[in-house]
Amino acid sequence: MKNILITGGAGFIGSHVVRRFVTNHPEYHIYNLDALTYAGNLENLRDVENASNYTFVKGDIVDASFIDQLISETDFHGIIHLAAESHVDRSISDPLSFVMTNVVGTVNLLNAARKTWKGDFSGRRFYHVSTDEVYGELHDPGTFFVETTKYDPRSPYSASKASSDHFVRAYQSTYGLPIVISNCSNNYGPNHFPEKLIPLMIHNIINNKPLPVYGKGENVRDWLFVEDHAIAIDVIFHDGKNGETYNIGGHNEWKNLDLVLVLCRLMDQKLGREKGETEKLITYVTDRAGHDLRYAIDATKLSEELGWKPSLQFEEGLERTVDWYLSNQEWLQNVTSGEYQKYYEGMYAGR
Ligand code: NAD
Ligand code: TYD
Repeated sequence: MKNILITGGAGFIGSHVVRRFVTNHPEYHIYNLDALTYAGNLENLRDVENASNYTFVKGDIVDASFIDQLISETDFHGIIHLAAESHVDRSISDPLSFVMTNVVGTVNLLNAARKTWKGDFSGRRFYHVSTDEVYGELHDPGTFFVETTKYDPRSPYSASKASSDHFVRAYQSTYGLPIVISNCSNNYGPNHFPEKLIPLMIHNIINNKPLPVYGKGENVRDWLFVEDHAIAIDVIFHDGKNGETYNIGGHNEWKNLDLVLVLCRLMDQKLGREKGETEKLITYVTDRAGHDLRYAIDATKLSEELGWKPSLQFEEGLERTVDWYLSNQEWLQNVTSGEYQKYYEGMYAGR
């Protein structure tokens, strides 16, 4: 059985990747390494936590000696690296923690893999999961980020992810480390932490709280259902070429305000409210500093070379997401009250 290390597996996207690999790849033993920051929640993985091919390891990727020890003790064939600080707003108020986890943490993993694999890279792979935000912002409709778009990060978050991407590529050209990178657009779906746009809006709608739209709501994001991202990661991990970058996205652009209005209408139906009632909660608030105007991904390379395409239409994905939050209000309640962090308190010694 091959051992695969997935970092950040207790987070939003990571938990879907862990579930997919534990369930669809019984030939692997999956190690989920996560520091369980505010964004990590083991409740996301309750359905697979007792699987025989799954082990959770609590630990911080910023701790170099811990990472060295973990990677030298277990013969990992692959590392799929998702652990990160991921919220742009948090990066504006605390950039340094983004440097530590996203840059230093990534370099610690690269160093440990390089030292342990000692130049014998056959059958090994270091997969770095990144974001389209490294490309900066788009203005003209009809333009898209492609894999060769020049990096132009504009927030501390995207600058830290861009830096980590550069380190990953440098470890291939300098040490020959077998790497692959993907840059994905905004994800949505179950288990999304309710301070990001879609789950925050769903939470506030349920609780009749104001819906804070930044600026005029004109910024555009390209939304992909999280399970489709997990499938793309599976495909790229197995079939992607060493040293390559693949953009992942669903050609699904929405202005923030239009998206919030669609959500309001859907929630009116789901909650039995009068048509138009929910959208009265929309409140325009001060814009985010340096707010990127538009992201849009061209995923042609991934679809033509590796045959990946998103499986879900947005309407279906959004309805599945809303239904998940409505039937998992305990999860939402635990996360917003902080209760979720008590679930595993004392269960893992960690580092
Ligand atoms: P998330 O914030 O929901 O989860 C991050 C996970 O990493 C959490 O479980 C957290 O506990 C863990 N973590 C944080 N710091 C750590 C550390 N120092 N050591 C070990 N674990 C640590 O993030 P997400 O939205 O699931 O994003 C996952 C990855 O995908 C990130 O690398 C992000 O940049 C990338 N990405 C996200 C999106 C998106 O829309 N959310 C889009 C494209 C790419
Ligand atoms: P977010 O989910 O934070 O993702 P990102 O900034 O990485 O794209 O935000 C998505 C968009 O929604 C972004 O343009 C900022 C905007 N936004 C709001 O208008 N209100 C909010 O409360 C939040 C969290 C985001």
